Amino acid sequence: MRDQSVWQSPVGKLINEMTLDEKIGQLMLINSPGGHSINSIKDDLRAGRIGAILNEVDPETVRELQRICIEESRLRIPLLIGRDVIHGFRTVFPIPLGQAASWDPELIEQCARVSAIEAKSRGVNWTYAPMLDICRDPRWGRIAETLGEDPYLTSVLGSAMVKGFQGDNLSGADSIAACVKHFAGYGASESGKDYNITNIPENELRNVHLPPFKAAIEAGAATVMTSFSDLNGIPASANEFLLKQVLRNEWNFNGFVVSDWESVRILQTAGLTEGDKESAEAAINAGMDMEMASRTFADHIKTLLDENKISMAAIDKMVENILRVKERMGLLNFNAERLGYFREYDLNGHLEIAKEAARKSLVLLKNNNYLLPLKKTNLTNVAVIGPLADDKYEQLGTWIFDGDENISETALHAITEEGKENFSVKYVRGMHTTRSRSYDFFEEAKAAAYDSDVVLLFLGEESILSGEAHCRSDISLPGNQAELINALKETGKPIVLVLMAGRPLALEYIIDKVDALVYAWHPGTMSGTAIADILFGKYSPSGKLPVTFPRVTGQIPVYYSQKNTGRPATPESFNHIDNLPIRAHQVSVGNTSFHLDTHYTPLFPFGFGLSYTEFHYSDIRLSSDKLTPQGKILASATVTNTGNREAEETVQLYIRDLAGSITRPVKELKGFKKIRLEAGKSSVVEFEITVNDLKFWNKYMKYTYEPGKFHLWIGGDSDANLRAEFELIQI
Ligand code: BGC
Repeated sequence: MRDQSVWQSPVGKLINEMTLDEKIGQLMLINSPGGHSINSIKDDLRAGRIGAILNEVDPETVRELQRICIEESRLRIPLLIGRDVIHGFRTVFPIPLGQAASWDPELIEQCARVSAIEAKSRGVNWTYAPMLDICRDPRWGRIAETLGEDPYLTSVLGSAMVKGFQGDNLSGADSIAACVKHFAGYGASESGKDYNITNIPENELRNVHLPPFKAAIEAGAATVMTSFSDLNGIPASANEFLLKQVLRNEWNFNGFVVSDWESVRILQTAGLTEGDKESAEAAINAGMDMEMASRTFADHIKTLLDENKISMAAIDKMVENILRVKERMGLLNFNAERLGYFREYDLNGHLEIAKEAARKSLVLLKNNNYLLPLKKTNLTNVAVIGPLADDKYEQLGTWIFDGDENISETALHAITEEGKENFSVKYVRGMHTTRSRSYDFFEEAKAAAYDSDVVLLFLGEESILSGEAHCRSDISLPGNQAELINALKETGKPIVLVLMAGRPLALEYIIDKVDALVYAWHPGTMSGTAIADILFGKYSPSGKLPVTFPRVTGQIPVYYSQKNTGRPATPESFNHIDNLPIRAHQVSVGNTSFHLDTHYTPLFPFGFGLSYTEFHYSDIRLSSDKLTPQGKILASATVTNTGNREAEETVQLYIRDLAGSITRPVKELKGFKKIRLEAGKSSVVEFEITVNDLKFWNKYMKYTYEPGKFHLWIGGDSDANLRAEFELIQI
């Protein structure tokens, strides 16, 4: 039964007044035709036939469209103006995966806040972010847009983004509505290929893929976008289990659900329906509220109502969900202040935040003999080599529709500035692009290296190699990059490799050829200073990997919270193809879980990242080794900065449930804290644990804890070995 009080609310009263055409209008999200063609939609706006537009960012045009809605349409309902504000607007922050490497929710919230301010100044009031898909397959190009492989980290950081976009109050002048996407399971696309199907058992879905969405909705996310993908045979855009059972019944979500781009129309292509009319019916009956880009709702709702295939109550509910969000945004009692056009903002302040975000996103993965930080006074000639050293556009990464490359600062520029008093810089591009296969600049690059004290090499992936529909079957360095590294290695000069990329790359075959490796993702507008600050030691690297780095592509999926299997690999049982005895007996070489042609561990584990100092973990303690369902225990460890400079560390807490009604992961991240420690100082870092940290969806599809033994680690990455044990007892 419908709650009658709805009709007394402003939204309800509005719905009562609406014609069917006006209702259908609110369900339509159309792509802006842009430029002069925009005139074609003005009559539709006057007639209330469009409720939302995406991709119109010309502030004059937006203002005019909103004016028509408010002054010339019968019901005076303003538009939602949607845009993919994914990691910045004019100022571009690191790609989301890079931001996640900061493990810094406050910083991530600030980046989203700035993005909202800049977007709102152009009239945008709705962003299609954050993306909360859990991805454990870096072949998938959209891993760049994710916050990594872990449900807990993604939940914390994704919620921070929601708060940043929406501000304290969704109707604030600088707030824009968030849209969490892609609901759900998209990150598990088969073979890491975009738009592919997913098959995810329900408890895996609930334990791994859904928690970030739940957390973000609890943080107030106003809207949800469905995924393109097919979940266990039912495309997400027509998936009643996801949209009704989980989202509405279990989570009480009261915002609205929008499809992805034409994801309703392509239900037919996917093989679920025989045509647009049936697609509209399937999506509406599953719980979709708004259709993006395609027009199956507009074209077929009337017939579907006549044929009793959908109900008027369903249409009213869809409209109500959408208008409720517009109401929360303050749009129903429109005033110009709320739309925030043309508000000035402090670009320099925004660039400072972008610099901080870029610095904190960089992860130091290797630093032989403390080559880094470089001492300026020891340098005379520096060779800067590589196609990504001086490219204002490529450093920005995927999804930067509104990014301004003119304000980008490149690494070459910042390094040259840095060297002014001390060293000279010789720049050689080395390769035409990151994927080129020519050797044209190799000799020049080698000559520059021979003449230098150190080689700063900027390689990786240009922007277009990651992001939507840009997946790779082989995630090693593209083009002739490995050959370039080999050529430079021959010079005998120390090599610092800075990799910019939209995904973890498989680097086993080059890692020994370089002396230091800084993983920079695509760091955004302020890449240059951020990288120079790290290379020359103004800032000690603090980034930690939000995703596991495989050694080779064939290891995928490899992630830290894997299941143990009944036969886990061990150092003793592991065997490499090169060491197999000839005609060895089948069972003599270790029947455990590994690939013969690579090691069973990843190249770099989740949570890993070096610093210019060292942190030592000791003295793990539990306040009790027994936990009751009503109680709590405190777990602590002492962290000591044993190096010689002050730096930041991310202290991580992992837990393993040793036995469950379904098998449990070997480790799960359950908490993290950032600390700053002076050289020589120690700090006791404490975490509180209750049964809430131990709950999971079990064999009986119940979200609960199960008594038994647990292991707990506190450390600087997911390989942490400082362990304590406790038991959860039922009393
Ligand atoms: C993407 C979404 C995006 C939408 C609108 C789709 O192709 O999958 O993530 O928000 O386009 O641009």
